[in-house]
Amino acid sequence: MFLRPSKNLKHYGSWALITGSTGGIGRALASELASKGLNLVLLDRDPLELDATSQQIRKQNGGLVQVRTIAIDFAKQCGEEIAKRIEEEIEDLDVGILINNAGLAYPFARFFHELGLDLVESVVGVNIVGTTWVTRAVLPGMLKRKKGAIVNIGSGSSVAVSSYPLYTIYAATKAGVAGRMAKGGGRCGVIAEARCWLQGGNRWGWPEMVAKFRDGPKGGGWGR
Ligand SMILES: NC(=O)c1ccc[n+]([C@@H]2O[C@H](COP(=O)([O-])OP(=O)(O)OC[C@H]3O[C@@H](n4cnc5c(N)ncnc54)[C@H](OP(=O)(O)O)[C@@H]3O)[C@@H](O)[C@H]2O)c1
Repeated sequence: MFLRPSKNLKHYGSWALITGSTGGIGRALASELASKGLNLVLLDRDPLELDATSQQIRKQNGGLVQVRTIAIDFAKQCGEEIAKRIEEEIEDLDVGILINNAGLAYPFARFFHELGLDLVESVVGVNIVGTTWVTRAVLPGMLKRKKGAIVNIGSGSSVAVSSYPLYTIYAATKAGVAGRMAKGGGRCGVIAEARCWLQGGNRWGWPEMVAKFRDGPKGGGWGR
């Protein structure tokens, strides 16, 4: 069997920016990148969680990696504010890897017309608006340096599941970030691609997921 050696990720730059990095998949990716010697910019919405994650990752790596944090709530801030804030924070850094991981699904399975307007706005805000403006803030530096890698975390709901009627907006937003938005790279040395997760690896185990589908809030879920 032919085994390809792994890439030296520091080739893209000495910093990686990961959104949604205080828990689940994002935090695991941040730890992994730090273990490869990359400095991290952690972006999430809770400053306390960010501090705790930053300290833990620094400790795990014997204080050898630098970690900066940016607290932004994608559901509450507009695109321009998000981009401006990130541009200011990373101005002096060579961010070579961007992982657009922050994502929001519904707390319970619901048909489109049953969703509250706030929830629809939040899902679109986190999955599409956040991803768009973070990329807009980070990409110019990569293009200037002629190297970089952008990974958008999509979802199997938009590629492997032929119909996902109880998560329509979520699946549609994920189709966007994993589809066209991950096809903008390949020029000027910047690679962009999508990784689509199926269920697994988050803060919920299978029993909680089944209960989410079956019961919903106060017993009003899918199986009602
Ligand atoms: N795990 C799976 O099975 C699976 C399957 C398909 C796709 N995915 C995708 O993989 C990615 C990570 O999933 P996960 O399971 O690790 O989820 P998770 O544990 O819920 O993590 C999502 C991250 O996004 C952050 N986030 C949520 N709302 C935000 C907001 N308004 N502003 C800024 N950050 C916000 C969360 O912060 P808080 O901690 O503050 O909420 C959290 O750190 C997501 O894009 C998800 O759609 C996961």
